[in-house]
Amino acid sequence: MQTLTIRKPDDFHLHLRDGEELQSIVADTALRFARAIIMPNLKPAVTTVEEALAYRERIFSVLPDKPDFQPLMTLYLTEKTAINEIEQAAKSDHVYAVKYYPAGATTNAESGVTDIENVYPQLEAMAESNLPLLMHGEVTDADVDIFDRESEFIGRILSPLLERFDSLRIVLEHITTSDAVGFVMQGPESLAATITPHHLLMNRNRLFSGGLRPHHYCLPVLKAEQHRQAVVTAATSGNPRFFLGTDSAPHAQTEKESACGCAGIYSAHNAIELYAEVFEAAGCLDRLEDFSSRFGAAFYGLPLNEQTVTLINQTWHVPASLPFGSGRVVPLRAGKDCQWQLRQ
Ligand code: NCD
Ligand code: ZN
Repeated sequence: MQTLTIRKPDDFHLHLRDGEELQSIVADTALRFARAIIMPNLKPAVTTVEEALAYRERIFSVLPDKPDFQPLMTLYLTEKTAINEIEQAAKSDHVYAVKYYPAGATTNAESGVTDIENVYPQLEAMAESNLPLLMHGEVTDADVDIFDRESEFIGRILSPLLERFDSLRIVLEHITTSDAVGFVMQGPESLAATITPHHLLMNRNRLFSGGLRPHHYCLPVLKAEQHRQAVVTAATSGNPRFFLGTDSAPHAQTEKESACGCAGIYSAHNAIELYAEVFEAAGCLDRLEDFSSRFGAAFYGLPLNEQTVTLINQTWHVPASLPFGSGRVVPLRAGKDCQWQLRQ
């Protein structure tokens, strides 16, 4: 049987939620990933170092004894974020980045930024202290077509930002378009991008295959096939500025299967297995470890993980749903087969 052993991956974009929900999902990530960048879009958002450290403690308190897992905390950038908070974050051993959400762009983004110019002082402080900015790269104007929101963001916001702050390290999160791929490839070394399993595996037809598929709804929304292919090419190219970030974002099944369903796909349950499938289909499984376990660490200036994980090429059945706090969550590939299996 074919096996694949790689350095234990890191997930550079993860939503762990909180409380009972956190408790029910954290092991899925900890089994597969040594470290993860933890998104701060809780309710209320994690906006201070103190709150980030308290959240980190809550994560540790529900971790299974083994394996050992390091949450890398982030702050949620608002127009009220104090410069002192940025300086404290840069000094902290546990805060690794600041997350930018355009106001209203996605789940719990109400306190995001309304105009990028309003946070220039904070970005200045981040550039000075070498704290990376993680961007949800979509404009939110209601008159912009939802499928164009990422490419519009690049032209309107990201491109001018790079000109103004040439030393600020930026990660364009969960890229979905050939525009983003091209922009990052041609951009400066200070710019990188994360790529999710769902944007590698699915195009926008999967939102409507045989009916409306709420569990395939996420933001940025799935795109057309040519964009999916461009993102696959980027992920499997061996270019170190594209690396793994699942954007695993669980919501209760009842919140997804609703008249106004939440955005977010739960992929932590089989993320590295699904990435392996993509790399195998592209004929470059040998590049999976760079994408999953080296490039992101290098961008963040982290040491490589010493632990390993082993994947077996043996089909398994993904459950229709999993426990999630007092409810259930429907994982990516629910009720269907997954070709690679994690050896536990
Ligand atoms: C994320 C969530 O649910 O927190 N949802 C999503 O569709 N990706 C928020 C986000 O990262 O946009
Ligand atoms: Zn996210």
